[in-house]
Amino acid sequence: MDFLSVTDLGGDGLAEVLATAAVVKADPGRAAGRLAGRKVGLFFEKPSTRTRVSCEVAVADLGAVPLVLKQDEVGLGKRESVADVARTLDRYLDVLAFRVFRHDDLVILAEHAGAPVINLLSDLEHPCQALADLQTLAEARPLAGATLAFVGDGNNVCHSLLLGGALCGVSLRVASPPGYAPAPEIVERARALAVPGAAVEIGEDPEAAVRGADAVYTDVWASMGQEAEAAERRRLFQPYQVDERLFGLAGPAAIFLHCLPAHRGDEVTDGVADHERSRIFDQAENRMHAFKALLLHLAG
Ligand code: CP
Ligand code: NVA
Repeated sequence: MDFLSVTDLGGDGLAEVLATAAVVKADPGRAAGRLAGRKVGLFFEKPSTRTRVSCEVAVADLGAVPLVLKQDEVGLGKRESVADVARTLDRYLDVLAFRVFRHDDLVILAEHAGAPVINLLSDLEHPCQALADLQTLAEARPLAGATLAFVGDGNNVCHSLLLGGALCGVSLRVASPPGYAPAPEIVERARALAVPGAAVEIGEDPEAAVRGADAVYTDVWASMGQEAEAAERRRLFQPYQVDERLFGLAGPAAIFLHCLPAHRGDEVTDGVADHERSRIFDQAENRMHAFKALLLHLAG
């Protein structure tokens, strides 16, 4: 089984992975050595801090061997075809995890590798991030019936939250500038998958999205690969900054979430990122626990 989209787990699988993530966080010894002898490839076509380190540590804690590969050495689709990279790595490794620019490359990799292929971020989704996000929200309150406001770019992180939230009973309210809403096919899929009671609302008004929410989430205005658009985006997204005033409209116990890296002063102020109800470093930590749980599910 591959994990290219958070929906690949299905609702039951997602609940199971989140439950395992909570167990391995509470008692790391329970998972130690469970994947002894396995080899896990971690490939990066873009920069990474959290994903690289949390996944490498998770693999090591499970007793498996992590192998980190970078685009400048592999040349995915340049030095050789994406399919041949998959066919080759499949002969050495038990799990293949990739961070890529084009989601279509992940689909090709999964087609040509027998081993499970994991999406470590693509232009379409960031499903490992969504696992950690849902784990963090579940630490604050039950997922079913929760409302999460996503303010900013309808990007890969937003897409995985829409889909994962729908499966877990979390209502999503997205507020983006005109032209930067999440992809219509993702919104449609989230609505089709949503468990009863979980709403998917897409709009342009950040205040309407945040009012009374249980969690407020934002991400960078220009994702990796969109650097050329950064100045234009900074201008368009300014009204979508999550500052103390906007965060103050959320529910009284609302938490703040951000996948990181954050551009403090752009999409979020220091006052919100460092707020007593900010959970951004719990999220970063949970990337490690959630990845262990995912590996145990796919390869355990
Ligand atoms: N959140 C996240 O994926 O961070 P990195 O880009 O540092 O891996
Ligand atoms: N949307 C961001 C997430 C980084 C973890 C990006 O793709 O660059």
